[in-house]
Amino acid sequence: MPTAKIIATGSYVPSRRLTNADLEKMVETSDEWILERTGIRERRIAAAGENTSDLAYEAATAALSRAGLSADSLDLIIVATITGDMPIPATACFLQNRLGAHNAAAFDINAACSGFLFGLSTANAYIRSGMYKRILLVGAEALSRFTDWEDRNTCVLFGDGAGAVIIEASDGSVGIMSVDIHSDGSYWELLNLPGGGSKYPPSEEAAANRMYYIKMKGNETFKVAVRTLEKLVVDALEKNNLKASDIALLIPHQANLRIISATASRLGVGMDRVMVNLDRCGNTSAASIPIALDEAASSGRIKENDYILLEAFGGGLTWASAVIKW
Ligand code: ACO
Repeated sequence: MPTAKIIATGSYVPSRRLTNADLEKMVETSDEWILERTGIRERRIAAAGENTSDLAYEAATAALSRAGLSADSLDLIIVATITGDMPIPATACFLQNRLGAHNAAAFDINAACSGFLFGLSTANAYIRSGMYKRILLVGAEALSRFTDWEDRNTCVLFGDGAGAVIIEASDGSVGIMSVDIHSDGSYWELLNLPGGGSKYPPSEEAAANRMYYIKMKGNETFKVAVRTLEKLVVDALEKNNLKASDIALLIPHQANLRIISATASRLGVGMDRVMVNLDRCGNTSAASIPIALDEAASSGRIKENDYILLEAFGGGLTWASAVIKW
């Protein structure tokens, strides 16, 4: 059976920076509060007319160019997103069209901040089954379009961006060793965007009630996240017969520095072996892991044969881990 190997990465963040000082002028908050409670200093915001598929396109073309591949060599395109260009069609179809990836099927995955790892699980299964040989997986979000800029509980957290990987069948000595995905829909009320679906279809009332924006019970989500992630990462190591000292780099979803530190500490990995970019990017949901992965790979923080551990937690609730031999 072939294993699935990431052969190239790419990422893109919009040029506009929104700093904590900017947010101080928009809602009752402070740089001190945001930094202390989250670790975020600034986030990137997509320009007017720059949509999720445009962010995905920039990340995808960077990955394709690094791999020296043309888009028509792709068998499949998966986009993980909760902020697609439109409810129909899938953002992956916009991306396929713009790339000219004529031979690729394309679809989206919604697992909120865990979306990239749910996509990785899907790509891994397709490659291992022999059904597809080359897959483009992108995590892309324009969260700023669904952020309630009057709600200080959420508007300080999110940013826009995209990260992409190209995954190919390989001989088995390196590649994705495990991907574990989990969901618990009983927690759906902790994090959602209620309006615009069949439950609350588009209406003036839904708009007046600000139902087209992301809602989060942050503190409750925080507690479940810490508890769940601590077990998740320990299980991922055990499953692969690895020790914490074997992990060259932990690449967590970038939601909150306190969640990241708690997970690393439970695992026994020092912060020097943890990839953190949320100070610059904020929480970019499904895009956060592939952006961090691209930054780590292109800056030389991951070397051939290194073991890396990825983990995520998000709306659904959903959570996931992956262990990769690079
Ligand atoms: N500025 C100043 N004060 C604020 C702000 C702000 N921006 N936001 C909230 N506060 C206040 C609250 O009103 C509250 O005040 P009170 O005590 O007078 O009621 C106080 O600060 C504490 O609020 P908490 O919500 O308890 O703060 P907490 O320490 O939990 O931090 C945060 C909030 C950062 C949201 C944290 O809970 C968190 O990171 N949660 C997890 C997020 C997450 O992992 N989500 C999943 C992924 S996202 C996805 O899937 C799209």
